[in-house]
Amino acid sequence: MKINNLELYNFRNYSKQEIVFGKGVNFLIGENGSGKTNLLEAIYFLSLAKSYKTNEVNLIKYNSRFSRIQSNVTVNDKLQKLKVIITEKGKKTLINDVEVKKLSNYIGAINVISFLPEDLTIIKGSPKDRRYFIDLMYGQIDRQYLKELTNYKILLKQRNELLKKLSDSNIQDFTLLDVITEQLADSADLIVNFRRNFISNANGYLKKMYRFLSDNNKSFVFEYKPSIEKDFESQFKSKYKNDLYLKTTSYGPHRDDYDFVIENVLAKDNASQGEQRIMVLALILAISEIVYEKYNERPIFLLDDVFSELDSVRQNKLIKYLTELEAQTIITTTGLENIEKTIITQSKVFKVQNNTIREESQNG
Ligand SMILES: Nc1ncnc2c1ncn2[C@@H]1O[C@H](COP(=O)(O)OP(=O)(O)OP(=O)(O)O)[C@@H](O)[C@H]1O
Ligand SMILES: [Mg+2]
Repeated sequence: MKINNLELYNFRNYSKQEIVFGKGVNFLIGENGSGKTNLLEAIYFLSLAKSYKTNEVNLIKYNSRFSRIQSNVTVNDKLQKLKVIITEKGKKTLINDVEVKKLSNYIGAINVISFLPEDLTIIKGSPKDRRYFIDLMYGQIDRQYLKELTNYKILLKQRNELLKKLSDSNIQDFTLLDVITEQLADSADLIVNFRRNFISNANGYLKKMYRFLSDNNKSFVFEYKPSIEKDFESQFKSKYKNDLYLKTTSYGPHRDDYDFVIENVLAKDNASQGEQRIMVLALILAISEIVYEKYNERPIFLLDDVFSELDSVRQNKLIKYLTELEAQTIITTTGLENIEKTIITQSKVFKVQNNTIREESQNG
C-alpha cells in the first residue's frame, strides 16, 4: 500500500500543498509548530475519516469555509483516488470521485498504522484509551469487526435507555429487556471472540518485535481482560438488578480492558518512559504484521515524533527495520542528527517551513 501523492486544500496551516511521497521512508523535518503533525493528521483523516485529536471543524484552515484532502493511492497494484471534504456541516468521503456514504465502507481503503505521542496513554491511561486504540487499529483491518462494534454500540444504547426508563417508572415487565439483552449477548460474544483472536495473533509477533527493539529478553505480553468471558446471556441477565439500579449496562465489551505485562508485572507501574515507548512501538509493529497477513501488503506507517526518548541505537534500528520491510513510512522529527547517512540516502527528506512543505532530496 502506498500513498503516491497528497493534495491539501485549506487543511490546518496549509492553504494549498501538494506532496509526492517516496515509496519507502519519508522524513518530515521542521521546527516546533511548523505543521508536521498536521500533515500526518491529514493522512490519518484520509484513512480513518476521523481526527485523532479534535473536532472536525478545527481541521479547516482558519477563516476558510471547507477543507479538502485528496490522494492517489496504490493498493494491490490498483490506483485509487481518495478524497475527503470537510465543511462546518460535516464530511464527505469519496473513492474515485464517487461518494461513499457508509463510513464502514470507506474506512480501510488504505491501512495506516500510526504512532502518536498520545498513544503512550494506552499504557498509563484509562481502559477507555486502550479500547479506543485497539478498536481503531483492528476496526480498519477487519470490516466485520467494525460492523459488529457498531451493532453492539446501537444495542447498548437501546438497552441503557430502556434500563433508565424501567428504573424511573418502576415497571416490572422485563420482556423487552430480555429481548435486547439476548441480542446484546450475541453481539458481545462475537466481539470478545474477535478481540481474543486479534490479541492472540498480535502476541504471536509481539515478543520478537520487543526483543528486536529493546535488545533484551524480558517476557512481554499484551493481555486481553474481557469484563465477561463467556455465558454472556446468563451473565447479563444475572445483573439486571444492578443494571437497573445504576441505569446502565455495567459489564460487557464496553468495559473490557487490556494490560501490558512485562516479566509478569504491569508495565504502567514499572517500565521507564523509553521502555513504554518501545512497548507501544512493538505492539504497532506486531499489528502491522497482522495487516500483512491479511492483505499481503504492508500498511503505511505514520510516526509522529517517535524518536524522542529513544536512544540513537533504537532510532536507527527502527528506521532500518522499516526500510528493509519496504513499508512506506512518514515520520516527523525536528532533526536527523542521530540517523545513519546510509539510511538517509535511501529516504526522501522534506522540510516543513512557513506553512509549506519542500522536498530536500531526490531519493526514495
Ligand atoms: N485550523 C487551523 N488553521 C490554521 N492553522 C492551524 C490550524 N490548526 C492548527 N494550526 C497551526 O498549526 C500549528 C501546529 O502545527 P503542528 O502541530 O503540525 O506542528 P508540529 O510541526 O507538529 O510541531 P511540534 O514539533 O511541536 O510537534 C500551530 O502553530 C497552529 O497555529
Ligand atoms: Mg507535532
